[in-house]
Amino acid sequence: MGFHKECELFHEHLTEALGEMWTDNDDWHTVDWSQHAIRFIGRMSASVFVGPQLARDTKWQELIVTSTMNTFMGVRSLRAWPAFLRPVVHWFLPELKKCRQQMRLARLMLQPIFDRRIRGKATSSKSHKTEKFNDTIEWLEEIAAGRPYDAAAAQIAFAISAMHTTSELLKQALLDICTDPGLIPAIRDEVDKAVRESGWSTTGVFKMQLLDSAVKETLRLKPGSLVNLERKALRDVVLPNGMTIPCGTNIAVDSSMMWDPTIYPNPSAYDAYRFLRLRQSGNTGASLASASPEHIAFGIGKPICPGRFFASNEVKIALATIMLTYDVRIPEGFDPKVVEMGFEMLSDPVAKLESASDIQLPPARLGRGQGPFPPPLAVGHVPKDTSYDYGRKSLTKQAAVAAMLFIGYGLGNIVGPQFFLENQTLQYTTGIRSVEACMAFNTFFLLCLYAYYILENKRRDRELGPASGQTYEAVDDLTDVTDRQIPGFRYTL
Ligand code: HEM
Repeated sequence: MGFHKECELFHEHLTEALGEMWTDNDDWHTVDWSQHAIRFIGRMSASVFVGPQLARDTKWQELIVTSTMNTFMGVRSLRAWPAFLRPVVHWFLPELKKCRQQMRLARLMLQPIFDRRIRGKATSSKSHKTEKFNDTIEWLEEIAAGRPYDAAAAQIAFAISAMHTTSELLKQALLDICTDPGLIPAIRDEVDKAVRESGWSTTGVFKMQLLDSAVKETLRLKPGSLVNLERKALRDVVLPNGMTIPCGTNIAVDSSMMWDPTIYPNPSAYDAYRFLRLRQSGNTGASLASASPEHIAFGIGKPICPGRFFASNEVKIALATIMLTYDVRIPEGFDPKVVEMGFEMLSDPVAKLESASDIQLPPARLGRGQGPFPPPLAVGHVPKDTSYDYGRKSLTKQAAVAAMLFIGYGLGNIVGPQFFLENQTLQYTTGIRSVEACMAFNTFFLLCLYAYYILENKRRDRELGPASGQTYEAVDDLTDVTDRQIPGFRYTL
């Protein structure tokens, strides 16, 4: 799958999840950020790992969100036993029973997809048209090339490598961004411009460089772990400086260079612009997915995290989408804390946020069926520009205009979306043209109305003499008269 398609999928699935969980409530309300961040990443990752169908399945979402934690718990419970007993006790430990149960469920849920694809391939080979799938189910099939493998275990493994790390980063990144109120508008502007220019694509995501820097700064301050590159020496290793690491020793690289004041001035402060400045000064290691000896949150060298581009795009798209559609802030009195557990660094496990849907969405923020749809065919005009007080009287006119507006609005909302075609996702050329055409028609009809008012005023001056300045109050006893029956009435232009 090209990363372009991946970016679109991330955005599409997060938008759906936001609609379901954060809704379009435009009043400030508290959201369970700690839980929601995991669910958002689960949904976005699954759209690429197993395709849109399973990604939307709530049972699958539950499975991948909980499988990571269950596996960690399982490993922990097994470690309490001596190594020689583990091949036996694992059958009896409740945590590991749960893991096996989830594996069976994953197999059951994946099987219909395999069956459908096999049937689809058989049909398409007859018609010489091969249906292409772009997800890890398909990639694994291609790589396995007929060799047996456990597809369910592979998916759980994907979830374990991708879910916890990425959702931790998303969680902390948004909390950090919220601590600097000036940052949100700056990122929002950058994201808005990038999406307008390049859509939800890798190019668009590349252009979000302040956001990139902000997320990298979060990863510097709170990497997944206080140490990295954990290894076990399987034989005696002699280092170039002559030091020997005896066989069986567990070693790791301390992450503290990421907080070293000689490398990062004022290292404990969150400075969202830090890596942007470095990048602008030509430092090629300053982008989020790059690693350097001074920033090893994704590891370094040969075994560096292969999912770092995936994770970077995913977190940036999640933050960009949230920032374009919601206002977010940390609830008053809540001070999120990073928790250290062994080597692990966890963002606040009870982190809350307040969010409010931002209803003033520019077109770049909208996709088919999401957000408030601007009804292109429902443009109405209320003639308020007269010397007559339509606000209080003229009930027939008001009712007629309101009915026309209502019908126009309804029709616009039915007909308008039909112009936003699936195959034009993100460009929506026909949709945009239809909006432009409606605007042009609207302007034309307004000009006609304006010309009519001028001509009508002139006709009245000619036929009835100059306007008397008579106001509605002056003819209050004539409640039922129309403008035409009031000789002094003129349209205000
Ligand atoms: C913010 C998110 C992520 C962080 C901070 C992160 C970090 C890391 C780190 C530190 C390593 C170990 C490097 C080492 O010990 O040498 C690693 C390995 C790995 N990561 Fe990630 N990762 C993230 C997201 C992902 C995602 C989304 C995927 C999959 C799509 C992924 C797949 C892997 C795999 C397969 C390895 C093992 C590589 C190997 O052993 O050769 N990671 N990651």
